[in-house]
Amino acid sequence: MEIQGKTILVTGGVSGLGKAVSTLLASMGGNVVMIDINGEKGEALAKVLKNSLFVMTDITDNAQVKKAVDLAMEWRGRIDVLVNCAGVAPGAKLVSKKGPHDLELFKKTIDINLIGPFDVMRLTAEKMTLNSPNEDGERGVIINTASGAAFEGQRGQAAYSASKAALVGMTLPLARDLMDIGIRVCSIAPGLFDTPLVANFSDQLKAQLAQMIPFPRRLGKPPEYAMLVLHIIENSYLNGETIRIDGALRMAP
Ligand SMILES: NC(=O)c1ccc[n+]([C@@H]2O[C@H](COP(=O)([O-])OP(=O)(O)OC[C@H]3O[C@@H](n4cnc5c(N)ncnc54)[C@H](O)[C@@H]3O)[C@@H](O)[C@H]2O)c1
Repeated sequence: MEIQGKTILVTGGVSGLGKAVSTLLASMGGNVVMIDINGEKGEALAKVLKNSLFVMTDITDNAQVKKAVDLAMEWRGRIDVLVNCAGVAPGAKLVSKKGPHDLELFKKTIDINLIGPFDVMRLTAEKMTLNSPNEDGERGVIINTASGAAFEGQRGQAAYSASKAALVGMTLPLARDLMDIGIRVCSIAPGLFDTPLVANFSDQLKAQLAQMIPFPRRLGKPPEYAMLVLHIIENSYLNGETIRIDGALRMAP
């Protein structure tokens, strides 16, 4: 699918990986709808990117998601691509000196990283069914952001890994659900990327983490993630698959 003239909804689209996606696709003539809870970053980015709309949205609130999808439809009359980037990465062990894992933290992580993206997918996929198919029979593309932690979660990542593994697990069945409509579904599993998510890490810790990455021996750059999103959108034969982008990193315990 070509980017020019298409409407692309990016959750978490104002920071880190999502921001790189919004920036690249807007520069290629896509109409980008950024949905995020960070109003300050959202308003600022919408001023810079042409063909962009920011809708302050908490993806765990169904009414807000519905409103954002409706606004996107009012804005350009269609949604062609969804890129789910919004997410959080808390750390907590099952049992620690503080006691058992906070149950609310577990539920909240699943809510933001799994149920929210699912809600956005079901509501945008319904709108994609209204699109006329292109020459390949395509009506839409959905891309979820999983994580290397879906496969090798580290200590303290039970909630995060569970949420991301669920995104990986639903990739194929979703592609099968949507095969008759012509909507493709893929996931991307990033390794370690230099985004605000890791902003509180010291330079020393970042350098140590980089040493664990076989090659290139550095954190990923958000535009490298965005390039893969672009490729998935453009390459009609990619479907039902999770692609790792991590410099061959396999996290230790
Ligand atoms: N940075 C990495 O190394 C890395 C590695 C693997 C996976 N990921 C995943 O990539 C995605 C993007 O992460 P990032 O590194 O760009 O982080 P980031 O913190 O820069 O961006 C995440 C965005 O999601 C938004 N968000 C959080 N909760 C939300 C909610 N309830 N509703 C709407 N928006 C919400 C935040 O406001 C933020 O703008 C996340 O899903 C993360 O788990 C990141």
